[in-house]
Amino acid sequence: MTARPEPPFLYVVVCAAGIAAGVGELIEAARERGWATGVIATPVALNGFFDVDAVAERTGRPVRSAWRTPAEARPFPPPDAVVVAPATFNTLNKWAAGISDTLALGTLCEAYGLGVPIAVLPCVADALAAHPAYRASLARLRGMGVRFGEPYTGEPLPDGGRPPFGWTRALDLLDRP
Ligand SMILES: Cc1cc2nc3c(=O)[nH]c(=O)nc-3n(C[C@H](O)[C@H](O)[C@H](O)COP(=O)(O)O)c2cc1C
Repeated sequence: MTARPEPPFLYVVVCAAGIAAGVGELIEAARERGWATGVIATPVALNGFFDVDAVAERTGRPVRSAWRTPAEARPFPPPDAVVVAPATFNTLNKWAAGISDTLALGTLCEAYGLGVPIAVLPCVADALAAHPAYRASLARLRGMGVRFGEPYTGEPLPDGGRPPFGWTRALDLLDRP
């Protein structure tokens, strides 16, 4: 009997933007497209920005946020691709600067060197996006081959609702598994 091949593994990095509450939609869409997923949240995102238990149940793995101890085995297999959604102003600037003081940032900094595809859906208000450091960060990350979805500001529509985030854009930016 031949062993069934493991599905390719997608890291989903979740930052602390209000829209993060909907990340289950991305995980479900990834599963439908043949990805297994593991979620790495920033420490702030872990603090009430999405339903951590529901996401852990959906992915079948604990949500990671803290570094493992040296004695612990790596809880996730190495990534075949990485998605950052939603990506905050803070995390994008720190990543571009090579700062690695959270597991999420360390994972992103390392992903470039691993050469795996990285897709990003920023969620950054226009007032923050105007900052020159942000524009420089995006230029640097694009120069590293990072793939970006259209900007999303999260600004409310005239009717008070919010435009859809379009989670699956992140998967469209990746090569098919
Ligand atoms: C309710 C709420 C919603 C937020 N939404 C956003 C957002 O859409 N984009 C963003 O860049 N920051 C947003 N922030 C600010 C970030 O949470 C803050 O900058 C945080 O330090 C980001 O941490 P992280 O990049 O490590 O996830 C929001 C904060 C709160 C309290």
